[in-house]
Amino acid sequence: MKKLAVFASGNGSNFQAIAEEIQKGKIDAKVALVLTDKEGAGVIKRAEAFDLPVFCILPKQFETKVQYEQAILEKLKEYHVDYIILAGYMRLIGETLLGAFEKRIVNIHPSLLPSFPGKDAIGQAYRAGVKVTGVTVHFVDAGMDTGPIIDQEPIRVDEGETEETLAKKIHKVEHVLYPKVIQQLVSK
Ligand code: GRF
Repeated sequence: MKKLAVFASGNGSNFQAIAEEIQKGKIDAKVALVLTDKEGAGVIKRAEAFDLPVFCILPKQFETKVQYEQAILEKLKEYHVDYIILAGYMRLIGETLLGAFEKRIVNIHPSLLPSFPGKDAIGQAYRAGVKVTGVTVHFVDAGMDTGPIIDQEPIRVDEGETEETLAKKIHKVEHVLYPKVIQQLVSK
């Protein structure tokens, strides 16, 4: 059974969706650990509710990014992690983790990449007035939301849509698409 590490900086609703699908037997993998870089992140309580090990490793505890990622890497090795699943992890992955997990780090992004990379993708798309946006799951490389695309799901921006209603639609789609792609990945 493949082992996943979920990295999250915030709310953790994507972590939750993945953990629920695993519980239902829809993903043939287990979450070995959850990692966050933010004290008090919502994902911590969610991980505890699933009885999963959760580690809060703060970048400010280290002098360099390499040292920070080496500390993470130790945990990943200790728990025999096969894949890193980024779920709202608000940090670029550096050379240390990229080198150790080549083609084994994935991310979910709330737009149809390559449009609207970076922060506040939903707001960016909404303000641009696009009629179709969506969700992308991609392999992670050194860039900001630039790695090879694995799957995408388009979402229409309806008449009278607000940024809030659009965000709700996008998150709903994320919670279905990400578990589906992860299952495809681990079953290869
Ligand atoms: C999601 O919209 C994801 O696409 C983006 O960050 C958000 C994380 O949300 N990368 P959550 O913490 O999983 O609720």
